[in-house]
Amino acid sequence: MKQIIILILFISIFTGCEVNKKKPGSEKKTDEIKTTVINNKTDKKVDSVLALMTLKEKIGQMNQYTGFWEVTGPAPDKGEKAKRYEQLKEGLIGSMLNVTGVDEVRKVQKIVVEESRLGIPLIIGYDVIHGYKTLSPIPLAESASWDLEAIKKSAKVAALEASATGINWTFAPMIDISRDARWGRVMEGAGEDPYLGSKIAYARIKGFQGEDLSAENTVAACAKHFAAYGFAEAGREYNTADIGTSTLYNIVLPPFRAAVRADVKTFMNSFNELNGIPATGNKFLQREILKGAWNFKGFVISDWSSIGEMITHGYAKDGKQAAELAVNAGSDMDMESVVYIRFLETLVKEGKVDEKLIDDAVRRILKVKFELGLFDDPYKYCDLEREKQIIGSKENNDAVLDMAKRSIVLLKNENKLLPLKKQGLNIALIGPLANDKNSPLGSWRAAADENSAISVLEGLQKYTGNKIVHKKGVRLVDGKATFVNELHINTTDRTGFTEAIKAAKNKDVVIMVLGEYAFQTGEGRSRTSIDLPGLQQELLEEIYKVNKNIVLVLMNGRPLAITWADEHIPAIVESWHLGTQSGNAIAQVLYGDYNPAGKLPMTFPRSLGQIPIYYNHKNTGRPTLQSPEMVFWSHYSDESNDPLYEFGYGLSYTTFKYDHLKLSKLKFSKDEEIEVSVRLTNTGEIKGEEVVQMYIRDLVGSVTRPVRELKGFEKVSLKAGETKTVTFKINAETLQFYTGNSKWEVEPGDFDIWIGGNSDADLKASFTVVE
Ligand code: NOJ
Repeated sequence: MKQIIILILFISIFTGCEVNKKKPGSEKKTDEIKTTVINNKTDKKVDSVLALMTLKEKIGQMNQYTGFWEVTGPAPDKGEKAKRYEQLKEGLIGSMLNVTGVDEVRKVQKIVVEESRLGIPLIIGYDVIHGYKTLSPIPLAESASWDLEAIKKSAKVAALEASATGINWTFAPMIDISRDARWGRVMEGAGEDPYLGSKIAYARIKGFQGEDLSAENTVAACAKHFAAYGFAEAGREYNTADIGTSTLYNIVLPPFRAAVRADVKTFMNSFNELNGIPATGNKFLQREILKGAWNFKGFVISDWSSIGEMITHGYAKDGKQAAELAVNAGSDMDMESVVYIRFLETLVKEGKVDEKLIDDAVRRILKVKFELGLFDDPYKYCDLEREKQIIGSKENNDAVLDMAKRSIVLLKNENKLLPLKKQGLNIALIGPLANDKNSPLGSWRAAADENSAISVLEGLQKYTGNKIVHKKGVRLVDGKATFVNELHINTTDRTGFTEAIKAAKNKDVVIMVLGEYAFQTGEGRSRTSIDLPGLQQELLEEIYKVNKNIVLVLMNGRPLAITWADEHIPAIVESWHLGTQSGNAIAQVLYGDYNPAGKLPMTFPRSLGQIPIYYNHKNTGRPTLQSPEMVFWSHYSDESNDPLYEFGYGLSYTTFKYDHLKLSKLKFSKDEEIEVSVRLTNTGEIKGEEVVQMYIRDLVGSVTRPVRELKGFEKVSLKAGETKTVTFKINAETLQFYTGNSKWEVEPGDFDIWIGGNSDADLKASFTVVE
């Protein structure tokens, strides 16, 4: 019987014949609900499969479980797991996550393909956030490169490795804008700016999905978390997001819009509520905006148990209602809440959920499976030979090393302390992270082996001309920290201080590697302090007392408040969590074999109390001091309003000069396009790269506009003494915003424009837009 069904299925697939009698475009469209329009061959194939499915099987496609038993071992014979195993055989699971490796994926796929009635292959998802086994820098670090080609390539390498191990879907990129360094997940995003965030979202999706999704080396991407997860109040993980329309449209949504333009295949909704409605049950976000206005054709997966959590939010009274709310709101696949599989069938029978919505969700899911080529060959990602060849290859390591170097930001370099001489120096290398082979992997390390990163010590040791003494100085973490356990930071044991201080004395230079342990960042890792954790600040100050010639290398997943270090330490290098090749990249920068060119994608505050602090803030009605003794203006009485390091900031071993800012027209209509150009000169002695940034301010708006907004950037490479002219275009797309009319439009009026190497650029011009 099963064979016959499979035969029908495949005949219909290959002939493209419509088993389902529905006509193209015949689905009902209401104001609120727009279902997939059948418009191409794949859609016809999808419909043919759909026609063969029972309601239960359809709902099965909407059900995703995590890897639940050692699939390479014997199947469980009792309990919840055994039930899931049976569901696999009955075709009641559409997707699995956390099943990795060709062997395991093949086994689980085989159960479904060979034993379930229709044999519809599983889509296999995994959190391939910045690589699979060979890790790139964390996404926040990559974003500091402002290098879209490199970022795209990094995602491509991640896809290459992931797909070689059976995975065909990554839960990345995370494109949540965030202005709060307390939030642990800022490490996973592109920082605070919607323009940069949109460009990076686009690049990463193109990198993961490639030109041809059905190729064996590409994976489906997932734009997450829809929406406003990065606006969790007080930076506390999973907290409420309450934001206005202008912030939602102008700041939060643009990267998601860019993701749809990049043809991202899936979206993930989020844990948080937005303005009182959990994102998972949010019809406005998912049906009106995403599937309606943006016409998104892929599918939406919930976040892990986020459908069930609508009960805890106080939005659904039980699992059944949660399922009803989620599916009606547009959540197509249930990740681990186990409520779709339990309740949807009854909900349809009771008329609470329209079966058309189930069909729509399943169509979307099947379509992605078709596009991945899983119907042609469910085992196409399961080639053991390929897995062996690709994972951890030299090419992949070279690629992540390149990305790691591009991600480093030089924050301070007084008296040209850097780069270091390669010969004859006596160096003390100090700090808990100096020989840490684990922290550079970050907390989203996918399948990377523990301690598989090159440490700074190892990287530096490749340069043999100097003498290095290494001392840890202090322990950062007590006990063994893992992905799931709560960290204990050492705040009492200073026993390592003495030998570190001794080692630092009389050395030509001290390199201190300080920052955050891997598992202090990422999901579930919000902090109320953004200082150097534990005893590291104290250690830094003690070492400084005996040797002021310090290069501070920071390893962290979020902006830190390092105001003391900025005042005292002559050289500071932001290295983030750089992935597998971390130590090699850092060593090449410290020795000048690579000239750093990274720019901050997120503002570094002077102190925690300034958070949320971001460059594209509003002006307020009282932005400046009226007279010296007046207190009635927007400020703090104990801290400046300025950040420590502004968005877009970063130094180089060379210097750049900007001049000749010119506009092709100073007055133009809102449908015209003009050009703005600037001359950039490398005024130093070595070759370098500079990210030329264009900021615009719309002086008057129906909704107040930020003091500056990034509207263009270009990374330029210049030889010593070389000059280049960089040109940007300004048109309606550059100037439009979500206005008081609830529309994206340009409002005529006066604008200021700045071009320079950071968000404080002072080379300025003005222009006027007329009707
Ligand atoms: C929860 C996270 O929020 C999400 O980003 C991730 O993809 C899922 N867990 C699956 O691991």
